[in-house]
Amino acid sequence: MTSEHQCEVITNEPVIFELSAPGRRAVRLPTLDVPEEPLDALIPEDMLRTEPAGLPEVSEIDVIRHFTRLSQFNHGVDTGFYPLGSCTMKYNPKVNEDIARMPGFASIHPYQPEQTVQGALEVMDQLGEYLKEISGMNHVSLQPAAGAHGELAGILLIRAYHEARGNERHKIIIPDSAHGTNPATAAMAGYNTVEVPSDDRGGVDIEALAAILDDDVAGLMLTNPNTLGVFDENITQIARMVHEAGGLLYYDGANANAIMGYSRPGDMGFDIVHFNLHKTFATPHGGGGPGSGPIVVTDELAPYLPVPIVTQTDGTYRFEWDVPESIGQLRSFYGNFGVMLKAYAYIRSMGASGLKAASADAVLNANYLMNALKDTYYLPFDRTCMHEFVLSGSWQKKEHGVSTLDIAKALLDYGMHPPTIYFPLIVDEAQMIEPTETESRETLDQFIKAMKEIAEIARENPDALFEAPRRTPVRRLDEGSAARRPLICWLPEEATLQDE
Ligand SMILES: Cc1ncc(COP(=O)(O)O)c(C=O)c1O
Repeated sequence: MTSEHQCEVITNEPVIFELSAPGRRAVRLPTLDVPEEPLDALIPEDMLRTEPAGLPEVSEIDVIRHFTRLSQFNHGVDTGFYPLGSCTMKYNPKVNEDIARMPGFASIHPYQPEQTVQGALEVMDQLGEYLKEISGMNHVSLQPAAGAHGELAGILLIRAYHEARGNERHKIIIPDSAHGTNPATAAMAGYNTVEVPSDDRGGVDIEALAAILDDDVAGLMLTNPNTLGVFDENITQIARMVHEAGGLLYYDGANANAIMGYSRPGDMGFDIVHFNLHKTFATPHGGGGPGSGPIVVTDELAPYLPVPIVTQTDGTYRFEWDVPESIGQLRSFYGNFGVMLKAYAYIRSMGASGLKAASADAVLNANYLMNALKDTYYLPFDRTCMHEFVLSGSWQKKEHGVSTLDIAKALLDYGMHPPTIYFPLIVDEAQMIEPTETESRETLDQFIKAMKEIAEIARENPDALFEAPRRTPVRRLDEGSAARRPLICWLPEEATLQDE
């Protein structure tokens, strides 16, 4: 196999094609006792293969071992600590999966008549009620399929709101600590983005905001706590300033795991919030899905919500499509129902006090790690954090030439997923750490020990870190190519990529 993004494969296990032996089978069917139809009588000749498909011929146990081994090559939250900042990789209770697989839910079809899926509609309606309560707002759409999709829905609502008032505006303000999807969303919705800097406590710089606000500002997108893991205590003042300028406030709720039951975006003064059900309300995610990014909004924005909207009259549920000022339908059918179901099950099983406890523990765990590591790694914003915090590898980089990337790779050898690195962009050599509430003190202590050991190696023998990781199935990848052009098929020795 040749490729510019070939990587050193450590495992010596043969791939399933190398195990193949002619005639070996997992299943043997009984001999045919009816006349055999010639293949070209069943399938048009021009659609028939001219050569065998080249499938491996293996026994059942070979197949089982192959797929089980493959499943273990990847790091997952079910196999190890996963403190990937901003991503809330918490443990997902398996009861949610069981419920999502119940045949009454899993086997329904989106084209079924509404009267035959009343239970599913009730779940959607009830989930919407919970999200309203958690956010402190009054109207919900479950349609967006991810956080970024929720953002797009929200910003289109902001546009519809201003246009309905004959008040075209062109700017969306976004803090320099924002997640990249925020400016991307605003630009996709046709807005110019204006960056507002952070102050020395990591919050929005109020003076800079005042200087930017004018009657061309459609709104401000904010995460609170933000991607530095700090809660902006000036939020009500910020909300007042934006509203006085005629703008609206969008709450990026991807970090809501930090605040459930403690503070509500509606009370902070926000007009729109999206939740990442797949983070805050426990659905396995990563690598692009599955997700769900419902939005919850104030009365003023309700007329523009995407359709369909679940409604209930006298105990009967239906989808409302006839919403004259709606921004329209954003996704096929009704959203990612499976993820909604898991969020519903999670919220029901946790209860209000359980959700509050989850946020408290998420914040406690983050502060525990931050305080244990802040003498070893530089902590640019040294204040009580929320559910995550950002360290900098700048001491190690400057003194020993060891980068944050080297540190992240070294963590893999400890069986732990690295934190989010090089984000947020405003922190040099950033390491964004989010332990979540579901980790024990012992696991947190192991992480602290690993991070301190790595810092020690950086001092004593930095070259060793340039070689990391040593114990993973693959070593250092060309990450750009691996993400954008992943090589996920095996080719025999003599083949080249061009033959693919
Ligand atoms: C702060 C923040 N906002 C928005 C998003 C976008 O969410 P999604 O990945 O579901 O599109 C993320 C995802 O990582 C995030 O961390």
